[in-house]
Amino acid sequence: MEGHGRHTKVGKKFGIGVVGLGEGKGLIKGLYGHPELTIQAICDVDDSLVRKVKQQFDIPFGCCELDSLLTREDIDIVAIYTPDQLHIDHIRKSFQAGKHVLCTKPLVNSLEEAEEVITLTRNHPDLQLMVGQSSRFFGPMQHQRRAFERGKIGELGYAEASYVHDMRWFYGNRSWAKEGGFDLLFGGCSHPVDLIRWYMGDVEEVFAYANRSLIGEEAGFQGNDTFVISLKFESGKIGRVLGCYGLEHPHHTKPWIEVGVYGTKGTFISKYPQLESIIKYEGEPEKIESYFEDNYHYFQFEGINHHAGEFVNYTEYFARCLADGEQAMPDVYDGYKTIAVLEAIRDSIETGYPVKVKKLMPETSKSGGYE
Ligand SMILES: NC(=O)c1ccc[n+]([C@@H]2O[C@H](COP(=O)([O-])OP(=O)(O)OC[C@H]3O[C@@H](n4cnc5c(N)ncnc54)[C@H](O)[C@@H]3O)[C@@H](O)[C@H]2O)c1
Repeated sequence: MEGHGRHTKVGKKFGIGVVGLGEGKGLIKGLYGHPELTIQAICDVDDSLVRKVKQQFDIPFGCCELDSLLTREDIDIVAIYTPDQLHIDHIRKSFQAGKHVLCTKPLVNSLEEAEEVITLTRNHPDLQLMVGQSSRFFGPMQHQRRAFERGKIGELGYAEASYVHDMRWFYGNRSWAKEGGFDLLFGGCSHPVDLIRWYMGDVEEVFAYANRSLIGEEAGFQGNDTFVISLKFESGKIGRVLGCYGLEHPHHTKPWIEVGVYGTKGTFISKYPQLESIIKYEGEPEKIESYFEDNYHYFQFEGINHHAGEFVNYTEYFARCLADGEQAMPDVYDGYKTIAVLEAIRDSIETGYPVKVKKLMPETSKSGGYE
């Protein structure tokens, strides 16, 4: 479905450079015609793709080398949509060139790389990094968050988040999914792990099982593609994350992404890509809330195959924070915590034991220390 999304006021003009033109195209389409946020340059190693996208969206500059894009003074923000394994290199180069960074999930591929990103941000205090956790910025999840912040759900006792999706198309179409360094735990479960942390706070310990599904095996996938994860939060509360990518997907019962938060005053379950939530507040009948009016905004570009609406939402939010001198979330420290949970899950899968999550010391934002 092609259409027009919403643009909201930022308060300042910013030039944006996009590197990686797979998902990156969603942001380019979504921001097309934006009064304040302009895509000034694009970069991809695929020259024919650069030419095509440059022409399609009237972009002033296109190149195949990130270094060329980074020399441009009309770029304030670099939006990174390259394969997971390349994020660290592209973040490092963008910071060194004096650009703010908006990096898609997963921020990076290991805790060691996340530590390097923290060091980079400490060395460039004038620059901001935001992690593009798109699921936080999808309509039903935003309604859920507002209900939570208004106190409608009460104190949360339990939460669960899942990302369930038949990934055979991905294994077959993305050569980098089969390359060393790619881990579907990070690529896939970064969504539900970020979402559950957003509600339940810091994670103390995880215990996880994982394996490769028969469908993943048949598709020639090398890593694990099925993850069942239990989490204990520092508050003592518990939660659950499911990542399941080798299956015939029953969409009616399993949305791609689902977040359920269970509180003292209500339960709120949000979904992707369905534009609806299931809500039960104390003393009120259960209801399904639908947001059909958001259809064009979220699915304006190649249907549900890109995330134009969420990407526009988070880029506007990031730019607004830059304009107002505020810190955009999830920032590098929040991003680090998600990577630390994923790394602990990886350890638990390997060892078969519960694993404590490596902590960022409270004073880290000033000192850069780790526990
Ligand atoms: N919901 C989301 O936020 C969301 C959804 C899907 C993918 N992603 C993330 O986006 C990233 C890209 O995924 P994708 O599905 O678009 O993959 P993709 O393979 O479709 O696109 C990646 C693009 O990067 C280009 N590229 C590779 N190396 C490059 C380099 N050194 N310099 C410049 N360009 C280079 C490739 O040619 C390709 O066009 C991944 O990190 C993925 O996890 C995020």
